[in-house]
Amino acid sequence: MALIGVFDSGVGGLSILDEALRQLPQHDYIYLADSANAPYGEKSSDWIAARSLVLCRHLASKGCDAIVVACNTATAEAIQQIRSELAIPIIGVEPGIKPASMQSQNHIVGVLATEATLKSDKFNALLATLPKDCQFIKQAGVGLVPLIESGKADSTETLELLANHLEPIQIAGADTLVLGCTHFPFLRKAIRKLLGESITLIDTSDAVVRQLKRQLEALHHQTPIKNCGAVVLVSSKNADTLLSSAQDLMSTDLDQHTARALGDVQ
Ligand code: DGL
Repeated sequence: MALIGVFDSGVGGLSILDEALRQLPQHDYIYLADSANAPYGEKSSDWIAARSLVLCRHLASKGCDAIVVACNTATAEAIQQIRSELAIPIIGVEPGIKPASMQSQNHIVGVLATEATLKSDKFNALLATLPKDCQFIKQAGVGLVPLIESGKADSTETLELLANHLEPIQIAGADTLVLGCTHFPFLRKAIRKLLGESITLIDTSDAVVRQLKRQLEALHHQTPIKNCGAVVLVSSKNADTLLSSAQDLMSTDLDQHTARALGDVQ
């Protein structure tokens, strides 16, 4: 059995943890939310890189066999540094613009991500590799992360802000929308309300967890699924609040994983 660290600026990475528990329930997990500092998406590259490194070092010091940087923004700004410093597999998350370009029928793709992700070299380098006949309508989801952090994913306030952000994507006629921030899968209901059922939503959590699985297999952690592993939730703000957010937002039954909130990280 492996111990897997999952890190995000806040509750967004719970969308990845949810998928990890669905595919790999036998492992133990430590989920670390830096909610005291969310949102990362409007902070400087240097700040995001330095803070992400500190938190991944913290997870490594707890004995993690692998770490999932369950944050597009931290992946964009810090994954190279984290990988060069820590000698364990580090799995990142990137906006699914490549699968989106392949799935879109009309070659018009909306990308909803943080400002920092959209500005990053990593995102723009990936974009440059994609076919030129695909049009990407990039939109920073400014203000959405704090609303999701405060449990307002389904509120009228969120719906109104989201409607503004999605307007250019809707006007352009995109048939595919990339959820380029791990917080945004929690807006699925609101997005469907605004854009309808026909738009294809691209969320990379399944691919990220398959990548984690391959890395664990390479480390010979091929534990059969007999029992559910444990989940520990750690926050830089309030671990008990994080546990109740996880119970609200995730589809996994956390009781089966004896999920507990464990103190706070600085
Ligand atoms: N969940 C994060 C992401 O995937 C970061 C959101 C934020 O803190 O701005 O980009």
